[in-house]
Amino acid sequence: MKILIIGSKGMLGQELVKVFHDQEVVAWDREDCDITQKEDVQNKIKSVAPDLIINAAAYNDVDGAEKEKDLADMINGYAPGYIAEAADEAGARLVHYSTDYVFPGDVQQGYREDIMPDPISAYGLSKYLGELETAKFTKRYFLIRLSRLFGPAGTGAGAKKSFVDKMIELAQTRDELDIINEEVSSPTYAPDLAKTTRQIVEGDYDFGIYHAANKGACTWYEFAQAIFKIKEIDIKLNPVPGSKFPRAAKRPAYSVLLNTKLPEARTWQEALWEYLK
Ligand SMILES: NC(=O)c1ccc[n+]([C@@H]2O[C@H](COP(=O)([O-])OP(=O)(O)OC[C@H]3O[C@@H](n4cnc5c(N)ncnc54)[C@H](OP(=O)(O)O)[C@@H]3O)[C@@H](O)[C@H]2O)c1
Repeated sequence: MKILIIGSKGMLGQELVKVFHDQEVVAWDREDCDITQKEDVQNKIKSVAPDLIINAAAYNDVDGAEKEKDLADMINGYAPGYIAEAADEAGARLVHYSTDYVFPGDVQQGYREDIMPDPISAYGLSKYLGELETAKFTKRYFLIRLSRLFGPAGTGAGAKKSFVDKMIELAQTRDELDIINEEVSSPTYAPDLAKTTRQIVEGDYDFGIYHAANKGACTWYEFAQAIFKIKEIDIKLNPVPGSKFPRAAKRPAYSVLLNTKLPEARTWQEALWEYLK
């Protein structure tokens, strides 16, 4: 199978490259192809002629998107449509990723795959636009939603550390941290998601939407508690409300992604243990 992985130096993209190591992989990041350049990306996809395209490229600065709406819409919204159109023309299947932030976060019991998105931030809107644009141009797509990704940082120019790595870094210089004890969501371990992606594309799954976070959910405070417990770092954690850290973008209060279509994932605590040990 010839697979084109876009965003291959990102946190998820680099794990996808590893998971598909035994396949014929063409790996692109921003320097190979800027996905916002419609003609260029479509011509390049045509010349690669892949069987499968996996698009893990994205604009992921949730607060930045409030100021850079056009850029977020272009990378997260319209570019996935360019890729979907080219995938369809090339006869390739497509995997695209989206987020729990397409949901408003007002449903305590979580969100099934078939619930209609209703984003409350510019980032969420841009990712929802990407979902719509993908579906507009091809029927042969898997749309995989995830939340709170963690794992080794990507190696691209704009690579950012995950919450897990940021906590460990902060603990080197601080003996006390205020952490938001709100915003319940499910952490997703990048290597697990890459494996799940392979299971989906190689399994007997219908095209459509999947929720593929790890099992369970937590606030940021609970996530931090688990990180320091596993690392055996003695640090005082103060649970605080989100209002303690004013941020440009609104966050869903409760955005657990319910998985009703895939085998049950392992818990986020098990995945976190593997990552940190
Ligand atoms: N991270 C999370 O917590 C999270 C949560 C929910 C959903 N997701 C979704 O999961 C997927 C993977 O996210 P991730 O965290 O692995 O992303 P990431 O680490 O930020 O990597 C994204 C990659 O895309 C590249 N890229 C950005 N703009 C591009 C462009 N115009 N043309 C070509 N490449 C471009 C980036 O290159 P540069 O480094 O040069 O910018 C980077 O290598 C995305 O769809 C994301 O929206 C992530």
